Amino acid sequence: MAVRRLLSSKFLEKVSKNYSQATIAGFPSFVKIVEVGPRDGLQNEKAIVPAQTKIEFINKLSETGLSVIEVTSFVSPKWIPQMADHTEVMTGIKRHPGVIYQALVPNVKGFHSAINAKVDEIAIFGAASESFSKKNINCSIEDSLKRFDAVLEEAKKTNTPVRGYVSCVLGCPYEGEIDPEKVAWVSKKMLDMGCYEISLGDTIGVGTPGKMKTLISTVSRDVPIQKLAVHCHDTYGQALANIFAALQMGISVVDSSVAGLGGCPYAKGASGNVSTEDVVYLMNGLSIKTGVNIQKLIEAGLFISSALGQQTHSKVAQATKSSL
Ligand code: HMG
Ligand code: MG
Repeated sequence: MAVRRLLSSKFLEKVSKNYSQATIAGFPSFVKIVEVGPRDGLQNEKAIVPAQTKIEFINKLSETGLSVIEVTSFVSPKWIPQMADHTEVMTGIKRHPGVIYQALVPNVKGFHSAINAKVDEIAIFGAASESFSKKNINCSIEDSLKRFDAVLEEAKKTNTPVRGYVSCVLGCPYEGEIDPEKVAWVSKKMLDMGCYEISLGDTIGVGTPGKMKTLISTVSRDVPIQKLAVHCHDTYGQALANIFAALQMGISVVDSSVAGLGGCPYAKGASGNVSTEDVVYLMNGLSIKTGVNIQKLIEAGLFISSALGQQTHSKVAQATKSSL
């Protein structure tokens, strides 16, 4: 009975309200959450999710208080068929004031398609591992930076803000250990090109809090901490611990995916991103504001999980599901 009460939605509400208390010393007072579920989540699903389902999913996410939603990617449909409906999805969603609708773009061709579909912002995506760069975008790191430079030049003409991703920051499925100095080098290149934020991706989820701290202290020598985000996958169950470590280092932007959907098709075996519900629960518990309504988030996560015919991977959603 007591357990049932603990798991009730009232309990969730109470924890959510916790954030009106003073922020705990050493932690940021606000964390921006970048919701990557519709892109990072659905790009890795075997089944192609119908565009209308994606639109309904994104419309639900737009009602949660999230400020950034990564909707899709304008990549080659031969490489990622799950995102071939990018334009239909981007133009079909109901735009919510205050929400930035973002998309991944690998080259100038993708940039023009994204702009035609009226994206608010784009994200370029490179890597700190040569082998992963080759597998994921079919070019070396050096060549990828030239491509990105061309994208940034085009973006300047339309005043489109550009975010930069660096993948494999804590390990690579092909090369193993990655030198934090290499991550710092790629991150700085992207920053100097004009990216307003650099998201550090633990693509295969092998990182630990100790490694995360070393990484952030190395990268933040070249990129101001306010411009860094963390993007953690949960393959080894370390994602929340890694985010906690990143917050202690001064990070205040966290990527996550509702229902813990996701993975990269070019990083076999990697599980989904950390789930947004669990991240928001953690933030609420630390009295850190996110602006996100956890109940609505859980509902959006259950909607897409049911559309995919699978259980949610969010621990918070699993724990509270019966009481909703
Ligand atoms: P390529 O084959 O080297 O490209 O692929 P290409 O320039 O030689 O062109 C080949 C064909 O692709 C041509 O068509 C182009 O028109 C077409 P064809 O003449 O054969 O009919 N093409 C395109 N079509 C649509 N949109 C485009 C586009 N560009 C070329 N933008 C390319 C190079 C980069 C295009 C390809 O490798 C690609 O699309 N890769 C995307 C891979 C991807 O999306 N991976 C997942 C996202 S990354 C990730 O998940 C990690 C992240 O979450 C962070 C983390 O977790 O660490 C971000
Ligand atoms: Mg990812």
